[in-house]
Amino acid sequence: MKNPLCWVILTGVAFLLIQQGLPVYSQGDSQSDNKVMDNITVRQGETVFLSCSQGDVVTHSAWLNRSSIMYAGEDKWSVDPRVSLVTLNQDEFTIKIENVDMTDEGQYICAVQTRSRATTTSVHVIVQVPPKITSLSKDIVVNEGSNVSLVCSASGKPDPSVSWKIISPAAQSLTSEDEFLEIPSVSRQRAGTYECTAMNDVATDVQTVELTVNYAPTVSDGKDVGVTLGQQGVLQCEADAVPPADFEWYRDDRRIFNGFDGIEIEDSGALSKLTFFNVSEGDYGNYTCVAINKLGSANTSVVLFEVIEPTSSTLLQGPGAVQDGNSASRAGHTSTCLLVLLALQLLLKF
Ligand SMILES: *[C@@H]1O[C@H](CO)[C@@H](O)[C@H](O)[C@H]1NC(C)=O
Ligand SMILES: *[C@@H]1O[C@H](CO)[C@@H](O)[C@H](O)[C@H]1NC(C)=O
Ligand SMILES: *[C@@H]1O[C@H](CO)[C@@H](O)[C@H](O)[C@H]1NC(C)=O
Ligand SMILES: *[C@@H]1O[C@H](CO)[C@@H](O)[C@H](O)[C@H]1NC(C)=O
Ligand SMILES: *[C@@H]1O[C@H](CO)[C@@H](O)[C@H](O)[C@H]1NC(C)=O
Ligand SMILES: *[C@@H]1O[C@H](CO)[C@@H](O)[C@H](O)[C@H]1NC(C)=O
Repeated sequence: MKNPLCWVILTGVAFLLIQQGLPVYSQGDSQSDNKVMDNITVRQGETVFLSCSQGDVVTHSAWLNRSSIMYAGEDKWSVDPRVSLVTLNQDEFTIKIENVDMTDEGQYICAVQTRSRATTTSVHVIVQVPPKITSLSKDIVVNEGSNVSLVCSASGKPDPSVSWKIISPAAQSLTSEDEFLEIPSVSRQRAGTYECTAMNDVATDVQTVELTVNYAPTVSDGKDVGVTLGQQGVLQCEADAVPPADFEWYRDDRRIFNGFDGIEIEDSGALSKLTFFNVSEGDYGNYTCVAINKLGSANTSVVLFEVIEPTSSTLLQGPGAVQDGNSASRAGHTSTCLLVLLALQLLLKF
């Protein structure tokens, strides 16, 4: 066997036979050995070095990918530019594969021929791939009471484990240990940011989904407001709604508009304010605030009532205070009490 090509082909054939468990007989009384090296684990994109030891009587050697020859001695057979020779001397035969990919996973064999024996050393290359979330539910907007189902799937090697959790609002605890997160009959408290995590030995991939839950407005009970004639008065209306409510104000059945008759209506988010710059006799009355969004509406009524500016107790109360109904009458009582006490003390002194 003077021709190296012939030897390499024979080695390849011999190896195939070995793999199939058939006995291989070399010429004469030469022997063959098969060794198995520890698995090599490499991450996608990295470089793997394949090395086997030689001896000083080696005549031929080759590195094979499965059954195809990559290198026969220093001759490159592989057409793959990622494969190259690192070292070939009396001690070692090392090649490298750069930018390793999933398809490179498998068995590699180093075949070494001395005058008396053929040795094959096989090594299994395992390629790991970082997890990647390949499909994820889009941000969603649903109405309260809907069944919500979020999906997250990921690829990677080893297979990543996928889990869901809610990250905001933080007080909630809703988790799932798989690709699916089911929220039956969703409540408004379940709205928030959900996070999908795909994790394996290599790395972690994280993505988030926003869940918006729409619901019809609810309005807080209106608070009646007492204002002295000629002063400024402000009626307030607060609505909780998603999407945010639009507000309408009514005096009895008549709609009130901004800028109308010394009145200003100012909406900011959940709050609407109706301001009378200079309350007149005709302004006192019952006002209704209606909060509306596409899912419904709610209303509340507030009374703007007159507070008679106190005359006898101006020192104690000060003029023109804008007060809400309850504290106005309470303040009135308190000042009357103080006056009675003062009078009693004066009487007792004389
Ligand atoms: C090497 O990897 C193969 C295939 O994944 C596996 O069957 C074998 O048990 C591994 N051997 C060692 C020593 O880890
Ligand atoms: C090894 O063989 C497999 C299957 O033929 C091929 O897809 C892969 O690219 C080869 N890798 C190298 C480094 O030759
Ligand atoms: C939500 O799921 C429950 C149980 O599967 C079903 O009975 C109900 O009709 C669903 N609701 C909606 C709004 O689809
Ligand atoms: C409020 O209105 C009354 C009556 O129209 C007027 O006399 C008074 O000057 C006004 N006050 C202010 C501060 O505009
Ligand atoms: C104000 O008007 C609303 C709607 O017309 C009514 O339900 C409510 O009883 C009224 N409030 C007062 C104090 O009159
Ligand atoms: C206010 O709400 C009540 C029921 O809560 C409804 O009957 C009424 O028509 C509403 N008023 C307005 C002006 O929307």
